[in-house]
This record gives sequence, C-alpha cells and structure tokens, in this order.
Amino acid sequence: MPRILIVDDEPTILNLLNKILIGQGYDATPASNGEKALQLLQTEKFDLMISDINMTPINGMELLRKAAASWPDMGVIMLTAYGTVATAVEAMKEGAFDYITKPFKLDELVLTVQRALEYHNAISENKDLKARLEHKAQLGGIVAESQGMRKVCGMIERVAPTSTTVLIYGESGTGKELVARALHHYSPRKEATFMAVNCAALPAQLMESEMFGHVKGSFTGANATKAGLFETAHGGTLFLDEISSMPLEIQSKLLRVLQDKKIRKVGGSDHTEVDVRIIAASNEKLETLIEQGKFREDLYYRLSVISIDIPPLRNRPEDILPLVDHILRRELGSGAELPQIDHEAQSILDNYNWPGNVRELENAILHALTFAQGNITKDTLPAKIVGTVEEGLKSGIITSRREQFKAKSLKAFLHDKEKEFLQRTIESMNGDKEKAASELGISLATLYRKLPSDQKK
Ligand SMILES: Nc1ncnc2c1ncn2[C@@H]1O[C@H](COP(=O)(O)OP(=O)(O)OP(=O)(O)O)[C@@H](O)[C@H]1O
Ligand SMILES: [Mg+2]
Repeated sequence: MPRILIVDDEPTILNLLNKILIGQGYDATPASNGEKALQLLQTEKFDLMISDINMTPINGMELLRKAAASWPDMGVIMLTAYGTVATAVEAMKEGAFDYITKPFKLDELVLTVQRALEYHNAISENKDLKARLEHKAQLGGIVAESQGMRKVCGMIERVAPTSTTVLIYGESGTGKELVARALHHYSPRKEATFMAVNCAALPAQLMESEMFGHVKGSFTGANATKAGLFETAHGGTLFLDEISSMPLEIQSKLLRVLQDKKIRKVGGSDHTEVDVRIIAASNEKLETLIEQGKFREDLYYRLSVISIDIPPLRNRPEDILPLVDHILRRELGSGAELPQIDHEAQSILDNYNWPGNVRELENAILHALTFAQGNITKDTLPAKIVGTVEEGLKSGIITSRREQFKAKSLKAFLHDKEKEFLQRTIESMNGDKEKAASELGISLATLYRKLPSDQKK
C-alpha cells in the first residue's frame, strides 16, 4: 500500500486530505508542520509527500528542497493557494512532480496522486533494473549502459559458448577487438590462445605464410619451417581484423580451411587438422565489396553465420559518462579518488559526435588527465573537440542532446498517461464517449482526436 505523507498547517485541510486518501486505500500520515514532516521522513519511508507551500517556520519550498536532496525517490506534490501558481511552477523546477491549487477538486487530487505514484514507481523500477544489469554492463570490461550495447552484450553471452564464426561490424574505435576478446573469454576455448591478425597490415605473399605457415626453403628467406597463426591458435580463437582488406587469393584459401578444417603450409604438401574459431571484423559492409567483386560471396556466407553490429558512440550518448568513469578508473587505479567532470566539460562530451568513437573518447580523457590540475574542465579537453561542439551549438547544428532526451521522455510519459486517463474515463461511462467527453470538459471531436486509431469506433 503506497505511503503518503501530508503536510499542512491548516487542520481542516489536513484532516480532509487525510480522510480522502485513506478512503482511496492509501496509507496516509498527517503532519501539521514542516518540522514534524522532517522528523517523520527521518524515521519512516514514504512514497509520496503532499505539502502546502505557505507554512511557518519551515515553508513548503524549504521542505521540498530538503526532501529532494535527501529522499530523491519520493514524489512530491505541492498545494498552493489560488494566486500563487508562480511559486508552484518554481516548485516543479525544484523537483516537485506537480501542484494542486486550493480549493481542489476531489478527482483532480486523486488523479494527480495516482500519476505521481506511477511516475516515481517507474523511476525506481528503472533504478533497480539498472542495478541488476550492473554486473552485466561489465561483461568482459565492456561498458554497456545503452540499449544498443546491451544488445551487443546479450549476443556475446549467447554466441560465446558456441564455435560459430562471428562477423563483427563497427566504425573504427567502436570496440570490435574488445568484443572479439570477450567472445573468446566467455568460450570454452578461453584457456587456449587468442590470436589477432590485421589483414590490412600485411602484403598478400606474407599473409599466406603468416596465416598458414611455411616449410623451410619454400621461398627466399624461409630459413626454417614456421607454424602459421592457425596452428598457433589451435584449440583457440583467430581474430581476422579488417577482413575487407584480405586479398582475393587468400580469401579462397581461407574458405578452404573453413570448409576442410585443415591447413597446408606454403611450400608444403601435408595437410594438418586445425580446430580454430574464426571471428572476423570489418568497418565496411561486405555486401558492397561483394558487388564490386572485391569479396567472395561464399566466404561471406561462411563468416557471417552470426553478425554483431556495434553502434557508433554518437548513437548511444548514455554510454559516454560511464565510459569516462571506466577509463578514469583504469588509468588511475580502482582505489584512487577520481576527478570530477564539471558541467561544461560534460556537456561538451555529451554533444560531440565522436567520429573516432570510444578510442577518440579515450584519447580525449587521457589528454584531460595530462592537463587537469584537479577536475576535468572544458580547458583540459582537446581544443578540436571543444571547438567543434561550440561552433555547432552556435550555428544551431547541434541542439543539446540532453535537452532532446529529457523533452522526449517527459512528452512520451504525459502522452501515455493522457491516453490511459481517457480510456479509464470512457470505461467508467460504460463506453459512452459522449458522456466521457462531457465529464472531461472537452468536445467529442477532441476526445476522438486524442484516442488511438483502434479505439475511435
Ligand atoms: N564498450 C566499451 N567499454 C569499454 N571500453 C571500450 C568499449 N568500446 C571500446 N572500448 C575501448 O576503446 C578502445 C578501442 O576499442 P577497439 O580497439 O576494440 O576498437 P576497434 O573497433 O577494434 O577499433 P579499430 O577500428 O580502430 O581497430 C579500446 O581501448 C577499448 O578497450
Ligand atoms: Mg581494431
């Protein structure tokens, strides 16, 4: 049963509210002034506080501020006398959920209380969920606060235990190698080797001997027989980075190895069995390269049994601050006191578009640590990043991302609540929309306009 604290220094109103709320099935507790309210708050837990604004010695605004600071999960509704609405609006800025003007209508009160409780429930459920996800967010040292990265972690959990080939897509610096390592780490192969080869860094002739090995004397300079990466990674994982740069002739050889699970050294005639899990990564879509004749379609199908897309950092701003925290901890050691990031610096990190993704963010934080005397401020961040964001904000290309998110979620919330309320009213009128509209004080046309299309009949 939700617990509600009512604070008002007018006994008649206090009693009235108490009666109404108990009648609605709430567990209400009255307090005749701000001091008493604070005492109760110290010892008991409330889901909601309804407080008058004009009280002495502690007025409602002061009580609100204290409550918002110490009990942020509790919802607050302010009561205000007619004519002091400006103060009430001020109260909402300080964290109150809503306000009710006195004298109030019963249904208005009941509805506002319901909405406040629902809203605060939703927020604290969200917090619980976050806490539960915390350990998952650290899967293999991967920070994953955003929906997109959680999806990536979910995929890792599901496919890591298998031996399936995985193709990882992502712009440069998004964490492709990190994901590949996590796939290895959470697999039964984790005790065996993880080998990485960058296909863009090796010329074709060298790549073949690097991957499959060579026998002594097979080419000038081959003074001894050498094992290739496949042999070295036997029982483990081979990570083929920038697979899009692999020359076509090596692609054919790789395809054969994937089919036969056997390799043949350069210059050799024996076939050796290998058991290697292949993970490939690319920052361009292989489909395009297939169309251009630069990538073998059959190899593509072999590789992309499962593909994991890592979203660019600009599409998951929720990850930025947790990543900064992660980087600071890694750089300074877990026991160290971490520097604070002031508002201005945070806003810059939030609004930059991060073409170099997490790697660029890492470099920016290392830069800041080098220059910061104490806290991380705008001046300690790379000038290029600060300049880009400031230019963007000035010319209106960037609108503050935080604002966009806040506005969107509040709007969505209000929209849902309105819909719910309309439906409930219609139900209480046994489906008679005309009656419902008149009860709501709106025209039938407005009611129809606000209803979802499947309920307009
Ligand atoms: N979600 C994340 N959580 C923690 N660290 C991350 C995350 N994503 C990337 N990093 C870090 O960012 C850096 C770049 O990651 P990584 O090398 O895996 O990216 P990449 O996609 O392989 O980059 P490139 O395309 O340049 O090869 C690494 O230091 C990595 O640890
Ligand atoms: Mg890489």
